[in-house]
Amino acid sequence: MKHQQPNQWIRDLGNDVYWTGVIDWDLRDFHGFATRRGGTYNAFLVLGPEPVLIDTVKAHLADRLLEKISAIIDPAKIKHFIVNHIEPDHSGGFPKIAAALPNAKIYATENALTGLEKYYGLPRDIQIVRTGEGLNAGGRQFQFVELPMVHWPDSMVTWMPEDKILFSSDAFGQFIATSERFDDELPEPPYHDAALYYANIVHPFNRYVVKTVQTLLKLGIEPKLICPDHGILWRGHIPGIIEHYTSWATGACAEGALVLYETMWGSTERMADVITQRLLSNGTPVDRLRIRNATMSELATAVMFHKAILLGSPTMNDGFYPVFGHLLAYLEGLGFPGNRFWGAFGSYGWGGGAVEKIHRWMKENRCRIITDPLQFRFRPSVDEEKKLLEFADAVTLQLEQGQPVLTGEDIDAL
Ligand code: FEO
Repeated sequence: MKHQQPNQWIRDLGNDVYWTGVIDWDLRDFHGFATRRGGTYNAFLVLGPEPVLIDTVKAHLADRLLEKISAIIDPAKIKHFIVNHIEPDHSGGFPKIAAALPNAKIYATENALTGLEKYYGLPRDIQIVRTGEGLNAGGRQFQFVELPMVHWPDSMVTWMPEDKILFSSDAFGQFIATSERFDDELPEPPYHDAALYYANIVHPFNRYVVKTVQTLLKLGIEPKLICPDHGILWRGHIPGIIEHYTSWATGACAEGALVLYETMWGSTERMADVITQRLLSNGTPVDRLRIRNATMSELATAVMFHKAILLGSPTMNDGFYPVFGHLLAYLEGLGFPGNRFWGAFGSYGWGGGAVEKIHRWMKENRCRIITDPLQFRFRPSVDEEKKLLEFADAVTLQLEQGQPVLTGEDIDAL
């Protein structure tokens, strides 16, 4: 049995700062992201002469947040209420919490104001804040930094310079429901969960993430504690998670090839086998997933960690396997097409169609295509298997010659 932990229901973070978030143990789907380990919506209460609440939780958990706040302080005594982000997983509780904090002045970005008004109506005036502006809450300092597109246009983070705490909203979050609150309380830092979250939520905004890291450095923000609005708080591995974010955003994390395939009667699987074996023989790092054995979220995360993505589908009803429609739309939305090398292969019985369709998607999405797509009728013959070997060799060659996924030039141009 684990040793007894401090109060896990309301966590004292030190110096009168409290975690008052709510754990969503049963969360299994976050707008399509398969959250197999549940989730957490973090909110924070900072005491002092003028108490401050930072963020709320999903609408159906607002009462739980209120219970936690009330266990520490009379909500009517809270003088300031900061809304870092308006996506309803954080702002759903806004109307109830704003009503329960009648004496709190509310702070949000201009974009947030528009969204709050449309979602809920405004309970009272909201103070619009911008980067460079701050709040002196009876001697406790808070600074606001707008971070549009990490995750929505309204997003901002709040920095407590004296305590060196960064309330980072969606950035650096993970979907995990645990009784532990800090990264160094887990057996391993939750980099894998953060990577899943990054690939499925943050990846479309890579450029903004790189900019965010640059902005934080420029502003001299060197946190001792990073408090995201989801999951575990970062205390013991802050350089590590920032390094990982940079690596995921720039694509430096990507290496080797990923074979993503489906099969109807084993022919496309045979093609995937030949390609995989050849890549192994070539010494090219390779991973292989049958699409229906994984969730879309796992597939997207696997794509993030590979530089060459090889898509194999049998033809079904003149097109690709229907699951490819979901996969390609998902990867497209997450911004992967232009950031990886791609190849297509597959089998057909009558007229074909799957490989042409995947190839067309690659061209429409300006993918860097490694080599011509390959398709064979029924089982690949011995001669056709030689073409699969050449296909795999072209992948190896491309990876040997390949550029970083997001080049230095791209980043300089930010
Ligand atoms: Fe966790 Fe963009 O909301």
